[in-house]
Amino acid sequence: MSVVVLTGAGISAESGVPTFRDSDGLWEGHDPMTVATPEAYAADPDLVHRFYDERRAALSRVRPNAAHQALARLEQALGDDLLLVTQNVDDLHERAGSERVLHMHGRLAAAWCTACDARHEWHGPLAHRPPCPDCGSRSLRPDVVWFGEIPYEMDRIERALEACDLFVAIGTSGTVYPAAAFVHWAQGDTLELNLDASLGADGFGRARQGPATELVPAWVDELLSR
Ligand code: APR
Ligand code: ZN
Repeated sequence: MSVVVLTGAGISAESGVPTFRDSDGLWEGHDPMTVATPEAYAADPDLVHRFYDERRAALSRVRPNAAHQALARLEQALGDDLLLVTQNVDDLHERAGSERVLHMHGRLAAAWCTACDARHEWHGPLAHRPPCPDCGSRSLRPDVVWFGEIPYEMDRIERALEACDLFVAIGTSGTVYPAAAFVHWAQGDTLELNLDASLGADGFGRARQGPATELVPAWVDELLSR
């Protein structure tokens, strides 16, 4: 049985990671959505670096929750028959034990050198423009996919969706493409697990509403007991 799981900000909400859309406040007077663009970075790189430096630093203050852990358990059972795709830039899936996570929107814990194209594991800040460990250029940016940029590994994701028996979307609002279209590309059964019915909920064969820490472990138990 081959399964594709897509996770969004909702799976990390109960760990205390602030989502983009559910957060009510502004960040230093800016809508976070306007910080996550190449245009914002070109216009004010210091501002964008500070935003991501804060989010990267915040990772050490949060822990994976029961939903992340349940998906790690699913990977143990299914191995290569599970493709776990996340839109999240946090590292909570990895810290829960998932070993093969596809971060389609990149990762906070990585820096990308726009001079030599190298990618590096990165846990500290970037705002002070540290040199690239490979080429020395001070051209490191967060290795995250901004609005207007193309998500990572779309070919692989599309192939997996076309071949899967089951596609499950967890904690995602269904507002950001291409992820919002995955349910239409999926060949097999489709299931949404979300706090409330997402914008795209009608496109799924089945949908369950509730907190991820309850719905995801219950669903994994069900699947593994079959
Ligand atoms: N359990 C389950 N779902 C939850 C929970 C929870 N505890 N808390 C919130 N949710 C749901 C919300 O109801 C909402 O539908 O998670 C969804 C979060 O939606 P968004 O904040 O829009 O996050 P996401 O869908 O991941 O956003 C996609 O947009 O901001 C960009 O690149 C960023 O990857 C992100 C992308
Ligand atoms: Zn470099």
